[in-house]
Amino acid sequence: MKQIHLAAQLPGIHNTTVWSDPRSESQIDVESFIKLARTAERGKFDFFFLAEGLRLREHKGRVHDLDVVGRPEGLTVLSALAGVTTRLGLAATVNATFNEPYEVARRLATLDHLSEGRAAWNVVTSFDAFTGENFRRGGFLAEADRYTRAAEFLATARELWDSWGAGDVLADRAAGEFIRPAAGEFTHQGQHFDISGRFSTPRGPQGHPVVIQAGESEEGREFAAAEADVIFSKYDDLDQARAFYRDVKRRLAAYGRAPGDLLIIPSATYVLGDTEEEAAERAAAITRAQVGPRTALTFVEAVWGHDLSGYDPDGPLPDIEPAPDNLVLKGHSTFRKDRAATARRWRGIADERKLSIRELVIEVTGRQTFVGTPRTVADAIDTFVRTDGADGFVLVPHLTPGLDDFVDSVVPLLQEKGVFRADYTGTTLRDHLGLAPRTGAPRTEKEAS
Ligand SMILES: Cc1cc2nc3c(=O)[nH]c(=O)nc-3n(C[C@H](O)[C@H](O)[C@H](O)COP(=O)(O)O)c2cc1C
Repeated sequence: MKQIHLAAQLPGIHNTTVWSDPRSESQIDVESFIKLARTAERGKFDFFFLAEGLRLREHKGRVHDLDVVGRPEGLTVLSALAGVTTRLGLAATVNATFNEPYEVARRLATLDHLSEGRAAWNVVTSFDAFTGENFRRGGFLAEADRYTRAAEFLATARELWDSWGAGDVLADRAAGEFIRPAAGEFTHQGQHFDISGRFSTPRGPQGHPVVIQAGESEEGREFAAAEADVIFSKYDDLDQARAFYRDVKRRLAAYGRAPGDLLIIPSATYVLGDTEEEAAERAAAITRAQVGPRTALTFVEAVWGHDLSGYDPDGPLPDIEPAPDNLVLKGHSTFRKDRAATARRWRGIADERKLSIRELVIEVTGRQTFVGTPRTVADAIDTFVRTDGADGFVLVPHLTPGLDDFVDSVVPLLQEKGVFRADYTGTTLRDHLGLAPRTGAPRTEKEAS
């Protein structure tokens, strides 16, 4: 029976997190991370995931703090979690545009050692010049080049990981030889990176940490088909998810890969209740907490490109024409592209259904993937995976840290159905995902010689 993969994401970044709820805890205290990781491990999840944002968003020139902002760096947090968990995979988002391969490869290899084979890297390519201003070379990369750099970045990281063979640390006391002479040697010459020397970190238990890709463009899908072990998506509508699943799995053959070599794991939210009605009521209340009056106006401003502070969020959309080239919300990927078309679409929905600004924003941005009793949610998740909408989900609670209710009530039902592990059977994240350890071919030949 097809097995479900589950991951946990610490809430944050978007307005899906209800930070103002009295039950929501800090997004920065180590205790929040530890609680969620321990809950996920108790639930036998595959991994814990952290997103990344490299610049605080701005709205009309001021910091946009309607959502959770100000979060610690991912790999550092995961290093702390490696010490308080034993099986849970640990995945961080690290940008391939603003970093250097040597540094990222070294930190990931280190996390793989510290966690005994549980490290994963979500390779993102966010490129916008606004974020780039925070970095030495500024917004230096054209959008068209982001995946060429990401592909070469990852290839270079793999060369660095392969520069140490499994037996390169000799620690031979009698001979007085600590490592093999060639250990860590590398040379990489390419369009984006021209580096050589010796890599400082011996090979980690997984060979290469698990590689995740998050991005949905044509180039992003090809990159994932060629290189990634996992792809995140945001398709939680079953029909759209199935289309994405078919499309991505179809691309694998061209790279000599089998469908099981790349797992498709969309992010998903859930709301549970003792009855369907209770869950639906809760879901409606959560959505209204997620889209307060100011968030509603901000999102319409982001699409319309105008200051709309004089408008009533509970009134109709403004009658004025949008100015979609005017970027009033910076650093928010949702409102980066196609704003004229988005404005037309939103106006159409609001007119047809007589929705206020706030009701419209709830309608177009609100996401409740699974709403119901633990039984109906377990059934829906199982159906989604069994019918090839996904290979599993990254669950994002709306409260920090969250997820206890899911682990206590839904996970046992999935286990009962035989579609989710009762316990871990391996020790590494690659084991949990059903993936073989990965190393590069050239180094394997060298090892054999
Ligand atoms: C599910 C999902 C999660 C993402 N998470 C992050 C993230 O944590 N940090 C980030 O900078 N970008 C994140 N991104 C954005 C993309 O990596 C980035 O915008 C990229 O340029 C989009 O690539 P695309 O044009 O192939 O969609 C995410 C995208 C998706 C679909």
